[in-house]
Amino acid sequence: MITTQSQIRVQPGNLLSGNVRVPGDKSLSHRALILGALADGTSQIRGFLPAGDTLATLRCIQQLGISIEQHDAMTLTIHGRGMVGLQAPASPLDCVNAGTAIRLLAGVLAGQTFSSVLDGSDQLRRRPMRRVTEPLRLMGAQITDQDGHAPLRIQGSRLQGITYRMPVASAQVKSCILLAGCFAEDVTTVIEPGPARDHTERMLRGMGVNVQTSGNAVSIIPGGVLSPLNATIPGDISSAAFLLVAASLAAEDSVCIQGVGVNPTRTGILDILAQMGAKIEQVNLREEAGEPVADLIVHRSHLNGAPISGGLIVRAIDEFPVLMVAATQAEGETVVSQAEELRVKETDRIAVMAGELRKLGAVIEERPDGFRIVGPQKLHGAMVQGHDDHRVAMSLAVAGLCAEGATIIEDARCAEDSFPGFVETLVMLGADIQ
Ligand code: S3P
Repeated sequence: MITTQSQIRVQPGNLLSGNVRVPGDKSLSHRALILGALADGTSQIRGFLPAGDTLATLRCIQQLGISIEQHDAMTLTIHGRGMVGLQAPASPLDCVNAGTAIRLLAGVLAGQTFSSVLDGSDQLRRRPMRRVTEPLRLMGAQITDQDGHAPLRIQGSRLQGITYRMPVASAQVKSCILLAGCFAEDVTTVIEPGPARDHTERMLRGMGVNVQTSGNAVSIIPGGVLSPLNATIPGDISSAAFLLVAASLAAEDSVCIQGVGVNPTRTGILDILAQMGAKIEQVNLREEAGEPVADLIVHRSHLNGAPISGGLIVRAIDEFPVLMVAATQAEGETVVSQAEELRVKETDRIAVMAGELRKLGAVIEERPDGFRIVGPQKLHGAMVQGHDDHRVAMSLAVAGLCAEGATIIEDARCAEDSFPGFVETLVMLGADIQ
C-alpha cells in the first residue's frame, strides 16, 4: 500500500538496482480527462495518474456534469457528452495546485454557453494567469483575472480564431488557446518560440480533429466531433527523472525504468544527462496512446558539468530541480540560462532549490534566469523543506542519497501531487528511505 508521509527520511549509502515503473504521465492524464469529457461517447483510460493534481482535474470535470467511473486508481471510464455537453458548475472549480488544470480548463470554459469560476490553492493563486487570459480575450472570451491571478471568472461566449505569437514557450498556454480554438468560428494558429510538449495536439489528432503544424506554428481547424479515447497512458518521464539522476549517481550497476513516455518534446532530461556523461539506454521502443514509449536502462556514471540553454530548457522544464542536484555531484561547471520560467512554477524553483541545497552544504550561484554550480560538492545531511512543491521535495530526497548522514525532508506530502509511491519506488530499488 502507498503511504502518504509528511516527512521523508533518507539515509545514504545503499546502491540502487532493479526494475521499476513510474506512475502515468501527469500531462497526459489531465488531457485525457478534459478531452474525454468533450468526446462523443465513452473513453477508456488505463495508466491514469491518481495524484493530487490530476484528481483535482477529475473533480472539476465531474462538476461540469461528466460521469467518470474509477474501476481502480488507474483505470477510468469517462462518459463524454460531446463538444456542447458540459453543464454549468454549481460552485467554483477548485484546481488546487494544478497549473495545467486551470490553464487548460480556461480554454475550454471560455467557449461554453454558461458562466464558471476557476480557482485553486494560495500557491496556484500566486501563479501568472495573464498569459492565458490575454490571448483568450483576443479570441472574444469574457474572462477576468484578479491582477493577473486566479480566480478566473468566465462568462462563456462565441470565440473567433486568432493567430497568436506566444511570448513564452509554454505547453499550458499553447493548449489553452488550442482548446479554445476547438470552439472558435474559424482557424486558430499558435506560434511558439520553442518546442513545448505537444500532447494536446497529438491527442486531438488521435480523436479526429484537424490539427496542422508548420515549423513553430500549430493550427486548429474547428468543426466535427471528437471520437472517444481508448488509451494506456505511459509512465511520466518527469517522475522517471528523479530515478534517472539517482541511478546515474548511485546505481550498483544499472536500474531499469519500464514504460516511460519518450515524446521528443519531453526528453530534454535524457539529452542533458547524456551531455553530462550519463549512460542511459532506450530499449523496447513502442507506441502507446499516440506517444513513443521506451524502457530506460540507467547505468551508474561519472557525471560532468554542462552548459544548458535554448530549446533544451522547455524540453526539460520540470526537471531542473533534480538537475540541480545532479550538477552538485558532476565534475566541473554547470550553467543553466534562459530558464526564468523556473521562477513561476509551483514555487520559484531557482531560489527554493538553491536555498534548500545550501542547507546541505551546496554552493550555488543563483542567476535571474538560471544558476551556476561547480562540482563535485560534498553534501551533508540536514533538515530541509519541501515548500509544498512536489518536485522540490523529491529532488531533495535524491540529494539526500548523495549526502553524508541522514536528510529529513519536511512538508514532503506534496510528492503525491505527481508521484504517488515515490518513497516505495526508491525502497524497491534498495534505497534507505522512509
Ligand atoms: C505542462 C506544461 C509545463 C509543465 C507542467 C505541465 C503541461 O508548464 O511545467 O508541469 O501539462 O502542459 P508550462 O506550460 O507553464 O511551461
